[in-house]
Amino acid sequence: MGELKLKVLRTEALTAHIRTLELAAEDGGKLPGFSAGAHIRVTLPDGTERHYSLVNIFPDADATADPTVYRLGIRLEEDGKGGSRYMHGLGAGDVVDASLPRNDFALIDTDAPALLIAGGIGVTPLISMASELKAKGRPFGFHYAGRSRGLLAFVEELAAIDANALTLHCDDEPETCIDLKSLIGKAPADGHVYVCGPRGMIEAVREIAHARGLAKDHVHFELFDAPQTETGDKAFEVEISSTGQVFTVPPGKSIIEVLEAEGVDLIYDCQRGDCGICQTTVLEGVPDHRDVILTDDERAANDVMQICVSRAKSARLVLDL
Ligand code: FES
Repeated sequence: MGELKLKVLRTEALTAHIRTLELAAEDGGKLPGFSAGAHIRVTLPDGTERHYSLVNIFPDADATADPTVYRLGIRLEEDGKGGSRYMHGLGAGDVVDASLPRNDFALIDTDAPALLIAGGIGVTPLISMASELKAKGRPFGFHYAGRSRGLLAFVEELAAIDANALTLHCDDEPETCIDLKSLIGKAPADGHVYVCGPRGMIEAVREIAHARGLAKDHVHFELFDAPQTETGDKAFEVEISSTGQVFTVPPGKSIIEVLEAEGVDLIYDCQRGDCGICQTTVLEGVPDHRDVILTDDERAANDVMQICVSRAKSARLVLDL
């Protein structure tokens, strides 16, 4: 159960797949403030939670420090587990349970230039970040990539924040396609890169930034892909080393989902493979890494894994739990 009861004030379709929702406190009071890049977790009817970035925009200081409304942007995931369908089905007057705002993707307090890179619905946390950078007079560039112009939400808001900082990249307009190598290649050595989007984009940015010599702590990322079932996913077994219990993880379920349902006490957060909280030591077996945290060397070592998204290449994993 979340700490907040939020009532839907208004919803609007922004594109064929993205809706925005405005939520207020059910009792009409103020909402807890938050910093750029923050998110809330909404509890779904089945008790699971989904993480949604807050899209409030900064020039109005009250929008974040003392908000009366939280604004979300949600893409309908046809292949998802139903969270986005539930959120898209909400209408004015509906009430949801949500967590307090939390920020795992905060801006670094520096005047060094920021390069913001968004892929698809990964734009949502970066909007409040652009807004704060603009309000503080800090230099930034905003690169927003998607399949086509008509599928990009929040473009007007971003242009209103700083049209000169904004570059749109659309797959169906080849002359605009995003060139991450060139973008990151031009980033100053003291700059910070913030990227939010699908796993492939985050992996590419991290790899290019590393090759370019940017310090690891100057590359910040948040994954905006619900973990997907991949073709060929198979069931595998997980053995808990402390008890010897063995559980089967079928395709479409995560290790966390299976173990929690069996009463195993676990610590986790994002459930997307980008926070590292669920990292677990692997005592035997070969993980199939699907996170965006581990480096190539760490993956090759196969001695730890993120049990929220990663699976197994071997028939059984023995985990230090
Ligand atoms: S819970 Fe965040 S990486 Fe697993």
